[in-house]
Amino acid sequence: MTPVLRAERILDRCDALARCSEATGHLTRVYLSPELRSASQLVLDWMREAGMSVRTDAIGNVIGRYEGAQSGAPALMLGSHLDTVRDAGKYDGMLGVVSAIECVAALTARELRLPFAVEVIGFADEEGVRFGSTLIGSRAVAGTFEPATLDASDARGTTLREALRDYGLDPQRVGEAARRRDQVLAYVELHIEQGPVLESLDLPVGVVTAINGATRYQIEIEGIAGHSGTVPMHLRHDALTAAAQCVLAVEARACGEAHLVATVGKLETMPGAINVIPGKVRFTLDLRAPADEQRQRAARDLSDSLQAICGERGVALTMTTLHENAIAGCAPWLMQQLDAAVTAQGYPLHRLPSGAGHDGMAMQALCDIGMLFVRCKAGISHNPAEAVTLGDVEAGARVLLRFIENFNPEQES
Ligand code: GLV
Ligand code: MN
Ligand code: MN
Repeated sequence: MTPVLRAERILDRCDALARCSEATGHLTRVYLSPELRSASQLVLDWMREAGMSVRTDAIGNVIGRYEGAQSGAPALMLGSHLDTVRDAGKYDGMLGVVSAIECVAALTARELRLPFAVEVIGFADEEGVRFGSTLIGSRAVAGTFEPATLDASDARGTTLREALRDYGLDPQRVGEAARRRDQVLAYVELHIEQGPVLESLDLPVGVVTAINGATRYQIEIEGIAGHSGTVPMHLRHDALTAAAQCVLAVEARACGEAHLVATVGKLETMPGAINVIPGKVRFTLDLRAPADEQRQRAARDLSDSLQAICGERGVALTMTTLHENAIAGCAPWLMQQLDAAVTAQGYPLHRLPSGAGHDGMAMQALCDIGMLFVRCKAGISHNPAEAVTLGDVEAGARVLLRFIENFNPEQES
């Protein structure tokens, strides 16, 4: 039977979610913000309309459940995240949530009950923009949420504990978001590729093999602030020139090795005045590689070389690890079933790793994970220019629906 899937509705819903933003004209929606509440409300309404029972969990994730032939059966979990980076695109995260809802709507339209339940989850924090710590939503569900994260604060000094209370959630009860292993059969996420590989191969979809590991640091360099007119160059302890040299050392280290990537995405100078030698600089470092050993070796080398740069310049360096995620492999049995769905829908098969991080990195502590990538224009993401075609969105939803209909948890290896 032809599936009842409406790719236009998926795109319209991504547009509607993009309007839930802290500023008009660009999309920014951070964890536990009023905008996240509005987006979550839309998603809960669409889930209900698609025939699911809905709830918001103890960390702010939204969850819809479509019962199987027997009520209370373990669930195949689908979904992605609803938070965004600053000045984001419309599809990173949202496409996965909305496509999964569309698939459930198709099951409901055909009154098709499966031997398992299907749950769709919209994770409330994946990007980590507000509190620095990423994957808060999926860690809570996987039962790996660190209570110390409650003390993390945002740029205004609001702690996660306070923000949860302001959102109407109880920080003491975050543990209740955790799911038991016997409740979840697998977690499968549809996501835009965020890279150029599928486009270069002229393919609408691809099956993910693994999510690359990542380590993120907060780095602080402490020099001595001083008068820009009076302190001779050779007597300065300028934190910013030291940071500049560190940033270039980071780039050089990553350029020197295939597949290793390193990014300084945020840098603040203090006190930040035209006539003051910078006394302090704070910046972030995001380090990723397809092998944990490669990433860890680069991290050790960079820590040594940044220390050496700062030592020579007479400034002090502190590196704090904000988050570390090992490479997350997709389960072979889920890859096989995704492959079968791609082939059954008539698309050529291609497997590829994910350079970007995803909720599966946290969910793998709870269950096996799988991912399906949908081509995006020029591989552009974390950018308002993020774009997908109607045809590719339809391809992704069709493959996902086919995968759900034929999902066989017995094949778990
Ligand atoms: C999430 O999008 C990440 O890879 O940083
Ligand atoms: Mn992202
Ligand atoms: Mn994402």
